[in-house]
Amino acid sequence: MQCYLSGLPVFLSMKIIAIAGSLRTGSSNVAFIRAIANLAPAQIEMDIYEELGSLPLFSPDIDTSTPPEQVARLRSLIEVADAVIICTPEYAYGMPGALKNALDWLVSSAQLYRKPTAALSTSPSERGGDRALAWLQQTLNALDADISKSASFPVPYIKAVLKKEGFHDTVISKQIGDMFAELSSSITKNRQS
Ligand SMILES: Cc1cc2nc3c(=O)[nH]c(=O)nc-3n(C[C@H](O)[C@H](O)[C@H](O)COP(=O)(O)O)c2cc1C
Repeated sequence: MQCYLSGLPVFLSMKIIAIAGSLRTGSSNVAFIRAIANLAPAQIEMDIYEELGSLPLFSPDIDTSTPPEQVARLRSLIEVADAVIICTPEYAYGMPGALKNALDWLVSSAQLYRKPTAALSTSPSERGGDRALAWLQQTLNALDADISKSASFPVPYIKAVLKKEGFHDTVISKQIGDMFAELSSSITKNRQS
């Protein structure tokens, strides 16, 4: 977002929280999220949420006005973020249970409602986890997150992609650039409305 002080343009900072759907030590999704963070434009501050495994299993019985503290923390991190990036692996054609569990915790509290959100998937295979991505998008639609086409894509052959430091001159680097542009534009629109 741009405003003017004494006639000079000033770019206001934007905060993005990124969530990788894998709990695995050495996860390629976590590595990909970290690599994306290094490519973020200067006005974007990107934090990585790495506490998916500490969330209790969702049950409406404990989704009360005083939720478990790990849940309250996840909700507040998303609340204060201007946008969210979620990157999922594919387990048996779907997103991992740990990620779906986190999203279930966000249904009643609605932190993702109209939140600019990028949905990504990665896989060592040529399909890039597109079936998990379709499921993630479906769940995000149920939560009324603001996902757009250019901020949502599968990343095939993730192991090879991660070997290319900075992803220079790759399809992926263009997709990441488009994703940040799309998220920034949605954030700016939200601030103006
Ligand atoms: C239980 C399990 C199921 C998997 N199912 C799929 C699958 O359906 N499609 C796919 O492309 N990869 C599948 N994989 C391979 C994962 O894409 C691969 O292990 C990937 O590295 C997981 O992401 P991570 O490195 O972030 O943990 C599966 C892996 C596991 C452990």
